[in-house]
Amino acid sequence: MNPKFDLLRQKQEEALRGGGEARIEAQHKKGKLTARERIHFLIDEGSFEEIGMFVTHRSTDFGLDKEKYLGDGVITGYGRIDGRPVYVFAQDFTVFGGSLSESHAGKICRLMDLAMQNGVPVVGLNDSGGARIQEGVVSLGGYADIFYRNTLASGVIPQISAIMGPCAGGAVYSPAITDFILMVENTSYMFVTGPNVVKTVTHEEVSSEELGGASTHSSKSGVTHFACANEIECIRHIRRLLSYVPSNCEDPAPSRPYTPSNELRPKLNGVVPENPNQPYDIRDVINELIDDDGEGFFEVHKDFAPNIVVGFARLAGQSIGVVANQPAFLAGVLDIQSSVKAARFVRFCDCFNIPLLVLEDVPGFLPGTDQEWNGIITNGAKLLFAFSEATVPRVTVITRKAYGGAYDVMNSKHIGADMNFAWPSAEIAVMGARGAAEIIFKGEIAKSQDPAAKLREKEQEYVEHFANPYRAAERGYIDEVILPEQTRTKLISAFRMLKNKVAKLPRKKHGNIPL
Ligand code: HXC
Repeated sequence: MNPKFDLLRQKQEEALRGGGEARIEAQHKKGKLTARERIHFLIDEGSFEEIGMFVTHRSTDFGLDKEKYLGDGVITGYGRIDGRPVYVFAQDFTVFGGSLSESHAGKICRLMDLAMQNGVPVVGLNDSGGARIQEGVVSLGGYADIFYRNTLASGVIPQISAIMGPCAGGAVYSPAITDFILMVENTSYMFVTGPNVVKTVTHEEVSSEELGGASTHSSKSGVTHFACANEIECIRHIRRLLSYVPSNCEDPAPSRPYTPSNELRPKLNGVVPENPNQPYDIRDVINELIDDDGEGFFEVHKDFAPNIVVGFARLAGQSIGVVANQPAFLAGVLDIQSSVKAARFVRFCDCFNIPLLVLEDVPGFLPGTDQEWNGIITNGAKLLFAFSEATVPRVTVITRKAYGGAYDVMNSKHIGADMNFAWPSAEIAVMGARGAAEIIFKGEIAKSQDPAAKLREKEQEYVEHFANPYRAAERGYIDEVILPEQTRTKLISAFRMLKNKVAKLPRKKHGNIPL
């Protein structure tokens, strides 16, 4: 036996033990996997290569010089997911609660630098008590070094953050800058200040779960895009998410081989109800249009702002992003939350060359003091801005209502959409017929012997004139009015036709999206 080889083996074994058996057991008792187990499930078998296994902290304060663990609470490295390269860091809660030291931050930064140089996504598995308290400002600096890299990497490589334990203080801001956040129900939480500080400052009594658990952030704040039932589901979601996105902003969106078959979808002819005020579920339309690839629609932000639906799918094998008004919730109206949700998704797709399909059935923007005082103007403008700036192939299908400013915003030709289709049930107008008749025929209705009958007559006149797709088609604002059953065929052709689209924005430092 070579004693030098033995030393190496011993050190490797020590690193694999993390914070020790007792702490690993405590982690398992909480229903959590260890950092190494998470990497094992995330990365293709046998493909993980670790970097910086023997890194330790350099602190001496508060007795830290006597407590050192190889790796210093974070495992960093690279491997493959479905055969494609990925960089991953996993914080190890068994070592100082996964807290972030100068060395721990340095390992993450090195990984991010490599990922940027090589154009490869970064997945962060977060499980950390925040800044390493014993290290003071050095740890805060380490966080800022990561935030800075997250920002520079934004739009260059996909960045995904899974929250698999506590994530408090500054630790929430790195995930917030990344593209997608996933949380695990009941074992993870995110907040800037925890329940104790909240109680002191605002006198509110709130549990960690209620303040910053997965269901809170997936439905109330929208901070997280996915709430997963357990860690394995979370890891599966990360793998699936990556299957729709390219490795970096220079690469095309992934495409799988596709064998054409009968693309007619007669079921779609019966989806939109006769009565224009009756709701239907836009997911029924999405599911008919996309590939039946055994995976279906991968919805993002499912529990947040349900009046708009966003997510990934494949169309003839090609990865696409779908943005669709949802008439089954608040009639599909655009409000602050739905505008922000959709704007962020549109920008992600545009960063990474993922073509956009927009399904439109929108009665307009939501009126009211709540919306106005909270900035529907600025927030609605985010969606307008995001679509206008997007240079990826963009195709719209108007299934029913396209009213007012929402017509413009929802990927109209005027703001750069490439192909716009409408179903015969489409209604494209400034506003609904009743409201329009009340305003433009106000005098005539008032003078009439029977104002109610006059209003009905004028309403009908407006319906016949504008509640259809043909005025817009006459102007070329709609490229083709199609039968619902033809939609999949038309979309496949349109996206194929747009495959090599090249569109450039005017030269500038960067735009000023209305934040
Ligand atoms: C050093 C820490 C630590 C930290 C936990 N530990 N957090 N060590 N720095 N921030 C250690 C504990 O001492 C303990 O060590 C082990 O990790 C597990 O912690 P427990 O408290 O036993 O676990 P649990 O009961 O599950 O509670 C987890 C926790 C709690 C909720 C995360 O530890 C906690 O509240 N920690 C402090 C959180 C915090 O205030 N962080 C600073 C945020 S401010 P042993 O040896 O017993 O195993 C911040 C500023 C950044 O991050 C700003 C950047 C801009």
